[in-house]
Amino acid sequence: MGSSTPRNLLSVADLSPEELEFIVARSGALKKRIKSRRLSRLLSGSAVGLLFEKPSTRTRTSFEVATLKLGGAPVYLSASELQLSRGEPVKDTARILGSYLDVIVGRVYSQDTLVEIAARSGRPVINALSDTEHPTQAVSDLLTIKEVKGALRGTTLAYVGDGNNVCNSLLLAGALTGMNVLAASPEGYEPKAPLVEKAKSLAKKTGGSIEVVRDPKYAVAAADVVYTDVWVSMGEEKEEEERHRAFKSYQVNSGLMKSAPKGAVVMHCLPAHRGLEITDDVLEGKQSVAWLQGENKLYGAAASLEFVVR
Ligand code: CP
Ligand code: NVA
Repeated sequence: MGSSTPRNLLSVADLSPEELEFIVARSGALKKRIKSRRLSRLLSGSAVGLLFEKPSTRTRTSFEVATLKLGGAPVYLSASELQLSRGEPVKDTARILGSYLDVIVGRVYSQDTLVEIAARSGRPVINALSDTEHPTQAVSDLLTIKEVKGALRGTTLAYVGDGNNVCNSLLLAGALTGMNVLAASPEGYEPKAPLVEKAKSLAKKTGGSIEVVRDPKYAVAAADVVYTDVWVSMGEEKEEEERHRAFKSYQVNSGLMKSAPKGAVVMHCLPAHRGLEITDDVLEGKQSVAWLQGENKLYGAAASLEFVVR
């Protein structure tokens, strides 16, 4: 540990195709090790800070537990309990935290905050969700897809709903691994054009494809994986009413699943809102792999930590 230029995981686009495939493969390998209690001591004597500006069940707990499984100590830092909440600048906070911690995992409102923490702390920083991306979610999701579909290359994923942080990271991760990713969103809620262009240019090199469409039925027609996320992300609560109206016909329900191939699986990064973006019968149904997906966040977190400290 402790190389002079720390390796960060702020965006999926920070990774080469080989690096992403490596992290996903390591997630699978660490899953076996953790399940059989053959634990690594890679983080022995290291402190991993989890600086969270927003709530979290899975990402927080999986990073805390992954840190313990790798022999380190997690330190949870709620932004609301730090001097940040009383106006201390991020850059001052990051300089001090960097002198105590070995790795910083940050869940923030703005991606710029992570960039600043990385610049000022001198420590590896992992994005645990920002306004624009959720890269460690994409890592563990690719592990789940590999487990249930056997391969990433050539697999078709239809994302139905908001062109948000989770969608962005999936577009980039799918592009890097040669998947075909379609995103179906209502007008005004599509993933942003620069990110889509970036994903398309990455996909050209790997043989994957990226398509942004309007019609959810069209998106799922050839899908191996149907994926959805909340309509109202953290921080967007004021837009709830208009978003519920806009996304009404983007629900993943048994009707939409009739348009998908029989073998398609359903994914949701969770937390899920039954009756909004997904129905209870689909989330609890045979095609759902959301619970395996949730479990796999632990192994994605472990592999992400391993990647930035090696
Ligand atoms: N999927 C996910 O990031 O869940 P949490 O918000 O509970 O961390
Ligand atoms: N898009 C959601 C993901 C939650 C894990 C949000 O940002 O709230």
